[in-house]
Amino acid sequence: MSRETANPATGLAISQPAAGTHKPAAPLDTDFPSLSGLDSDPEAEALLELENRVCSHGDTVHYAERPKIFNTCKGSYLYDRQETPYLDLQMWYSAVNLGYANERVNNALKLQIDQLPQLACQYLHKEKIELASMIVESVEDAFEEKGRVHFNVGGSQAVEDALKLVRKTTGKSRMLAFEGGYHGRTLGASAITSSYRYREAYGEFGDRAEFVPFPYCFRCPYGKKKETCNLFCVEQIERKFEHEYTGWVNPRTRKSEFGAFFVEVIQGTGGYIGMPAGYLERLAKLLREYGILIVDDEIQMGFFRTGTLWAMEQFGARPDIMVFGKALTNGLNPLSGIWAREELISPDRFGPGSTHSTFSSNSLGTATGLEVMKIFAGGDYGKTVREKGAYFLNLLKDLQRKHPEIGDVDGLGLALRMEMCESDSYTPSRKLADKMFQRGLEGNLEVDGKRMGLVLDIGGYYKNVVTLAPSLEITYPEMDLAHDLLDMVITDCKKG
Ligand SMILES: Cc1ncc(COP(=O)(O)O)c(C=O)c1O
Repeated sequence: MSRETANPATGLAISQPAAGTHKPAAPLDTDFPSLSGLDSDPEAEALLELENRVCSHGDTVHYAERPKIFNTCKGSYLYDRQETPYLDLQMWYSAVNLGYANERVNNALKLQIDQLPQLACQYLHKEKIELASMIVESVEDAFEEKGRVHFNVGGSQAVEDALKLVRKTTGKSRMLAFEGGYHGRTLGASAITSSYRYREAYGEFGDRAEFVPFPYCFRCPYGKKKETCNLFCVEQIERKFEHEYTGWVNPRTRKSEFGAFFVEVIQGTGGYIGMPAGYLERLAKLLREYGILIVDDEIQMGFFRTGTLWAMEQFGARPDIMVFGKALTNGLNPLSGIWAREELISPDRFGPGSTHSTFSSNSLGTATGLEVMKIFAGGDYGKTVREKGAYFLNLLKDLQRKHPEIGDVDGLGLALRMEMCESDSYTPSRKLADKMFQRGLEGNLEVDGKRMGLVLDIGGYYKNVVTLAPSLEITYPEMDLAHDLLDMVITDCKKG
């Protein structure tokens, strides 16, 4: 039995298994250690003690009460040193969309190690050109726009390149961005990321973006209801262009102070919140009128996470510049990049040396990226991701019926959210979300007398959202298992 539901972004009907069709997870074909086998591990203790002394705590490792050492990975699982499997529902913030140790992607990397393991970026190699060509074609298919690609290494660096391109094209260094948006932690990316927490210790950011409320309908910043608001939030942006006194535009020249609007159509770190239908279309029309470029940050939501190669495809607008990274190489050798419309990035406008980094377009990255794009081109991910996403969302709705502490569940494709609250289903509960994160990492959840762990990531404005980005290759029994593990973890954490 299945029922039709509307895709939140497109309004198109998608088929979902009926609520209540969840089957208890069948034992998986994995050799789990038994519960009695919780051995002590003196080497791990020594490593943790050493890490505590020699590694900076400036990264995100120490978000966990007890940092975790993993040893191997395969498919949807990470394995610790006792070979305990941890079902990963976040896949390295959506960098490993095709599953851990994906054989095709790994083989592409191995072949390239034998063929052309390294090459200075001032010379060309075949894979770079072919990969750029596949990306250019994919954007042309999706948005009917011609353009070019420029590679870099990490997401934030590509964001920096996008900023440079906007500045060069428009001559403007002020940007618009959303509250709750996340674009990275280099200085330039921090200036367009709303959290002051990431800037506080680092002096003045004269180029800090103007942050606009994101349409977070579950907690509408204007206290409206989605069903009746008539996109009041876009009206508030439109108001900024009505006269000169809002400081956004000079009505005489019709020029705006801003060069570009950096957009995540579904906020990643912000808690997997998606824009409501019609929002971006209306916003994009306004931005075009005033020559403000749209920079589409696809770093977390690209590569079929939402059921289309590029998430923006489902939101009725076209990018001027697109930024991508993470899942391009399935988490192997880092590679990121920007795509931009031909008028912005043509050689006469963005000439040789406009931007550069030693490891950009590294040959191990381009070879794996090329293989990833070939896998997507040869697969049916549009269909499978939407179907799996609908099934997973139903499982989350089932959990929500059981636990009033789940205030909101939502999703597009396999980008899903579960917002943890107090028992009133609304007051954010960071405490509960935190406990779930830590509980999953303990690695002693009992499944059929065997032990398992659960890898979760917590995001959102109140740090109370379980942001779910499972492997696009996750199986239906694994999704059922995810339901049961989440149920176990929530039940356990509510008690304490
Ligand atoms: C939407 C988005 N933009 C930019 C970045 C920054 O990418 P990186 O961490 O590779 O620098 C991230 C990383 O999480 C992201 O999710």
